[in-house]
Amino acid sequence: NGRKVTVIGSINMDLVTSTNQIPKVGETVLGNSFHSIPGGKGANQAVAAARLGADVTMIAAVGNDSFGKTLVEHLTNEGINTENIIKVKDTSTGIASIIVSEADNSIIVVPGANNHVTPEVIEKHENKIINSDIILLQLEISVESVIKAVELAKKHGVRTILNPAPIQKLPKELLEMVDYLTPNEHEQALLFDSIGGTEEELAKYKEKCIVTKGSKGVMIYKNGEKIEIPSFQVEAVDTTGAGDSFNGALAVALCDGLEIEEACRFANVVGAISVTKLGAQTGMPTKKKLKNFYKYINHLKWS
Ligand code: RIB
Ligand code: NA
Repeated sequence: NGRKVTVIGSINMDLVTSTNQIPKVGETVLGNSFHSIPGGKGANQAVAAARLGADVTMIAAVGNDSFGKTLVEHLTNEGINTENIIKVKDTSTGIASIIVSEADNSIIVVPGANNHVTPEVIEKHENKIINSDIILLQLEISVESVIKAVELAKKHGVRTILNPAPIQKLPKELLEMVDYLTPNEHEQALLFDSIGGTEEELAKYKEKCIVTKGSKGVMIYKNGEKIEIPSFQVEAVDTTGAGDSFNGALAVALCDGLEIEEACRFANVVGAISVTKLGAQTGMPTKKKLKNFYKYINHLKWS
């Protein structure tokens, strides 16, 4: 059991505005602060896994602009293999315009260069896929590209985790091939509404689901039974990227051979710690931080 995690997916610069009040249509309000912070679901998952000690490679694309340069440098500093990140000419690096308020956050993503992670690009990296212990995917690259990646992984017996966010209609063939799906409650409902099919068929896909429910923890299905796995309660500052932290940690836990329930418990703790800081990646714990944290395990506020 190795810890080689390959993340195929998005890299964005997050343009984060924090405000007490989200403007209504046509309204202008004064915000509190603005930060440009590394993000993108793929990059976030990669950083989460790398900080926990995994050997992480990213297959992704950025534009040939200053955001792209900054983001690749940042990922390299996090110890991630960035050799396979393409630089696309005349295209902007992906950005996410994020509004964080006390109540919630809302996001507009402009994929830009992320759209250049095509099935052809993925095919070229078959070797990287073969040499992975697990592949992590999200939906900020095209569904066709995700299908290609999962196909290649399946062909070589490499496990896959797909975080179906932002949610889109997915073909059954993809759900057949993928090993784990990690939607939130809302995404799961939409996913199953859009598939159709018999109860039996749906049940089969549900068994692959790990449904994240924020501060309410996660839910998995085992032989048709729902199992709730509690989260760890924290004071949330910014929940952006909590799901990505969960997925990165889940990949590492599965590489280490943890049973699914135990893996989810671990990933819940990592996800919870990540929301205590502003920015998707800022709060993601390192192995060392987590170790200190577990020293207080007896005082954990499980709910
Ligand atoms: O999941 C959080 C991420 O979604 C942000 O970092 C932003 O880039 C958006 O893609
Ligand atoms: Na955060």
